[in-house]
Amino acid sequence: MFRVKMEPVHTACALLCLAPWLVRGLPPIWTQPEQVHLSYPGLAGWMEVTWTTFSKTDSTVEYGLLGGRLFDMSARGNSTLFVDSGDEKRQMYIHRVILTDLKPVATYVYHCGSDEGWSDVFYFTALNDSALFSPKFALYGDLGNENPQSLARLQKDTQLGMYDVILHIGDFAYDMHEDNARIGDEFMRQIQSIAAYVPYMTCPGNHESTYNFSNYRNRFSMPGQTEGLWYSWNLGPVHFISLSTEVYFYLDYGLELVFRQFEWLEKDLEEANRLENRAVRPWIITMGHRPMYCSDDDQDDCTTFDSYVSEVQGWLIHSPNDLPNLDLFYRYGVDLELWAHEHTYERLWPVFGDKVYNGSKEQPYVNPKAPVHIITGSAGCRERTDKFNPNPKDWSAFRSTDYGYTRMQVINATHLYLEQVSDDQNGKVIDSLWLPIARLIRQMYIRRCYC
Ligand SMILES: [Fe+2]
Repeated sequence: MFRVKMEPVHTACALLCLAPWLVRGLPPIWTQPEQVHLSYPGLAGWMEVTWTTFSKTDSTVEYGLLGGRLFDMSARGNSTLFVDSGDEKRQMYIHRVILTDLKPVATYVYHCGSDEGWSDVFYFTALNDSALFSPKFALYGDLGNENPQSLARLQKDTQLGMYDVILHIGDFAYDMHEDNARIGDEFMRQIQSIAAYVPYMTCPGNHESTYNFSNYRNRFSMPGQTEGLWYSWNLGPVHFISLSTEVYFYLDYGLELVFRQFEWLEKDLEEANRLENRAVRPWIITMGHRPMYCSDDDQDDCTTFDSYVSEVQGWLIHSPNDLPNLDLFYRYGVDLELWAHEHTYERLWPVFGDKVYNGSKEQPYVNPKAPVHIITGSAGCRERTDKFNPNPKDWSAFRSTDYGYTRMQVINATHLYLEQVSDDQNGKVIDSLWLPIARLIRQMYIRRCYC
């Protein structure tokens, strides 16, 4: 009788003890690699492979030249434990392996993992490290786990070899931290179909802000020492700068980040603008999530005159040397600024301080006198697309509310081509831009920056 009476009590106690595990789920023994993606560490002949497992394993990439012996080379890396800050405190291991000494333009076949589990087989083409290279890009922001309208088209484009690099200009998954970071896992599985084949370069957006951007900082592997918040890299005739506009909006995570990024940015621009550097890489292209200007009707920062993003840069550069209150990008002759956040596409005339600085009336983009801005945040997410203000300002050249993404090719030292693909219109190119900038104009930039 005694035992019969106590058994339910014991059972209840045991269940209570197990309750936290039942709620959280037992930690999986899962050594299978997933969420494989590439990034470019910014050094010629290098490529970084990043993936996830849910149990600790070794981190190995086995690879070989396409057509050669499979996996005759291997490289080892390491993994870091990422503990999500949600209720379940889910754990995963993020593996990073850098491949070096790759032959430019050679195609490599690879898989990643360990003897406890290997990924599918993928391939990539090593980037051409020549400054004469004409790299091709897809670029967009605001692509979500739900309603990722442009993803199928991007998958096919990528498989057709149309891109060397993809730029994701902030706002991933919507949101990576949700459902105890399972949405992040699912999104990274979704983009594996493109990001395991070409380097996927990123910057943070506001949708990454939860838990101090920890999902973003842990899941991606960008150049530099800031966990992908800001960094620069070179490819072909371009110097790319990736920024966090979010440091201006989440001051709780550290006001000092505003100053650290600014100091780094000014130094980076000064270096890129040295005569000898700009001669080799004449294009300076920036990407950041929240634009300085936009024509949307949603009351976002960019809809106001002197938006916070542009104002902060101007404010920081004013004093102490009593320099004119110039936008840093204007002062250092940035050619093109890529933005997202607004769920629309917008092309601006060359603009600085709310004024249009076209090259000429007949040819606005030939030798423009200020940076050109593109806003491309309509790749597709659960928030759908935004609407435009019916009365745009003078600097707004073209607007579209279609879902879609942007293609860009930097043809050579003086010519850049960009086009907007509408997913709503079955891949139709609905806008395009040639941006020709003569070498003489670069010298004007260099004079303007007091370098
Ligand atoms: Fe955003």
